[in-house]
Amino acid sequence: MNMVQLFEKKKQGLELSQADIQYFVDGYTTGSIPDYQASSLLMAIRLLGMSDDETFYLTKAMIESGDVIDLTSIDGFKIDKHSTGGVGDKVTLVVTPIIASLGIPVAKFSGKGLGITGGTIDKLESIQGFKTELSSQEFIDNVNRHKIAVAGQTGNLVPADKKLYALRDVTGTVDSIPLIAASIMSKKIASGADGIVLDVKCGSGAFMKTQEEAQRLADTMTAIGEKLGRRVVAHISDMDNPLGKMIGNKLEVLEAYALLSGRMEETHEDLLDECVVIASLMYQVAAGVDETEATAAVKRVLADGSAAAKFEEFIVAQGGDVSDIVQNETAHKVSVTAVTEGTVETINALLVGEASVSLGAGRLTKESALDYDAGIQLIAKKGDRVKNGDIIAYLYSNNQIDQDTIHKIQQAYTIA
Ligand code: URA
Repeated sequence: MNMVQLFEKKKQGLELSQADIQYFVDGYTTGSIPDYQASSLLMAIRLLGMSDDETFYLTKAMIESGDVIDLTSIDGFKIDKHSTGGVGDKVTLVVTPIIASLGIPVAKFSGKGLGITGGTIDKLESIQGFKTELSSQEFIDNVNRHKIAVAGQTGNLVPADKKLYALRDVTGTVDSIPLIAASIMSKKIASGADGIVLDVKCGSGAFMKTQEEAQRLADTMTAIGEKLGRRVVAHISDMDNPLGKMIGNKLEVLEAYALLSGRMEETHEDLLDECVVIASLMYQVAAGVDETEATAAVKRVLADGSAAAKFEEFIVAQGGDVSDIVQNETAHKVSVTAVTEGTVETINALLVGEASVSLGAGRLTKESALDYDAGIQLIAKKGDRVKNGDIIAYLYSNNQIDQDTIHKIQQAYTIA
């Protein structure tokens, strides 16, 4: 077998076999297949797609490229969640302590952000002292003791995805449903949880721009998970507008903590609604209860303070300093004003995400250093009335804030 034969099959519209896909994943991971041949196959997949069987074989071969985490020494049904990535998406920070406070073990491995979509690990690392690198034993002990641990992915978890994702990122092949599905599901399955809730983002700030694409991605991932014996539920949520009021690592931690603590004036209903839906789905999957019971339980632990207390316990358990979650301080803070009067119709998530990267809150390359305190606070949200000259957002950065970034935020607002 060789790569040229695989190209020929793909060109003729034939399906790749399990052996073909295994050959490609093994060869690329171990270095015997060069980048140029892997890029060519990735672009063929990006343009021609993959059948359900091909996508499943790709996921399986990727899982088998490295370690699979064994969580059997954690009691109970382990639940995980995954978002396909969005702007201002701090849902994990809110829902994981909610679920843990309901007694369900949350064993979560998360990633760093790349481009406009943030990563939970970067957000947690913005808290003084917080440790995201845990040994397997520390991770398991924390889940058994506190019902929650969130850690960075270990070195040898799906090495095929590390190589393939880096290549996709520079060859225009990220936005492919089978490649995204295999990338996400291989990591989720290798992370060992029994159940997974998938939050599939749809809109300008997401990989999936239309409802139809998002539904196809959701269906593809759900089918893979179920074929591999996991309980999987997918939910499609809006990513035309940023979620909540804060975009940026420390700012998002502050907002998540405010929401858990019931300080709604520091956050927005859209974030609360989304977190209640995702947490309710996680509880339904893990505890086998219906939507009404799950939603009531989620609202109860939010209202009685147990979810906020669990968040503090989780931060401390991983070495973080809760007293650091009070405010973010930057050398520069600039206000952005409305240039017209009317109602905010939409806030383009893509432009807001790009502005947050310029401020230092996101990475352009894997090596970029982050400014944890940098980011954007949206003062006006969708549906708000504004007048010409009203402050609609604040920008924070430890570097000088340029006019282009300010204009980008003004452009992001459609005020009608
Ligand atoms: N997130 C992933 O982990 N992989 C993708 O391909 C896209 C989003």
